[in-house]
Amino acid sequence: MTAKIISGSEISADIRSELKARVTRLKAQGKTPFLGVVLVGEDPGSLSYVRSKEKGCEEIGMRETTIRLPADAPESRVIQEVDRLNKDKEVDGILVQTPLPKHVDTEKVLYFISPEKDVDGFHPVNMGKLLRGQSCFIPCTPHGIQEMLMRTGNDPSGKHVVICGRSNLVGKPLAALLVQKTAGANAVVTVVHTGTAHIQYFSRQADIVVAAMGSPLFIKADMIKEGAVVIDVGMNRIEDKSREKGYRFVGDVDFEKVKEKASAITPVPGGVGLMTVTMLLQNTIEAAEKTAGIRQ
Ligand code: GUN
Repeated sequence: MTAKIISGSEISADIRSELKARVTRLKAQGKTPFLGVVLVGEDPGSLSYVRSKEKGCEEIGMRETTIRLPADAPESRVIQEVDRLNKDKEVDGILVQTPLPKHVDTEKVLYFISPEKDVDGFHPVNMGKLLRGQSCFIPCTPHGIQEMLMRTGNDPSGKHVVICGRSNLVGKPLAALLVQKTAGANAVVTVVHTGTAHIQYFSRQADIVVAAMGSPLFIKADMIKEGAVVIDVGMNRIEDKSREKGYRFVGDVDFEKVKEKASAITPVPGGVGLMTVTMLLQNTIEAAEKTAGIRQ
């Protein structure tokens, strides 16, 4: 079996055209959705991620501002900027790009973001609501994965989803999302991680495998069952002397081999990464619709 490629670019383009229409409707009411980003330092991954958020906002007609702080900015300064965005009535969504430098307590900074503007869905109030099945901002990567599954006819309901990785960014919120008794979820969820002795024992039973452990090419063909759906969240920079830059990006899945056994698979790049940004735009529009009184 050769897998169908689940294209994050195509699905993103579809969603973004739907979002554009919502932005137009908001603008007609005098409201332009506005995202405020706080970026501390110059981590190359963060810089490229923030650039794609800026581009995404521009593409669909949203406002965006990035507050750039030096890597040695004190924690109090980061919190001060978050607070300024909290109080700014024009700003609908706030995102603090992670990872933050080591001297800054990420949990403390996230706690300061107003939950009504927390479009990343990382604030404990939103995380708690997600777990309890209440309406909230859903973290962007898990939400993007759910959309990719649903829009390609791979409804996770009743399926065994094995999530590899237990990060606060992906693994844990994705498990909380897919286990709910709701449309687009209702899955049997297993989370495996660095404390799991035989990951392949679990991954081979999965109807859907989500690789989110940040380990290049970790998932091999013999770790999945024939016909499984494979979602690759990894974005790892590896040395490649044949490339002009001397490196290339690969996922957590051995794509070339796994695609011969899976029924559907996401590529890297061009897969989940784009969806994360698209869902961020969606969450910011939702926040703006609430402010404009269009949405509860
Ligand atoms: N770093 C990597 N992914 C993300 C994300 O979705 N949000 C934030 N704030 N930081 C990230």
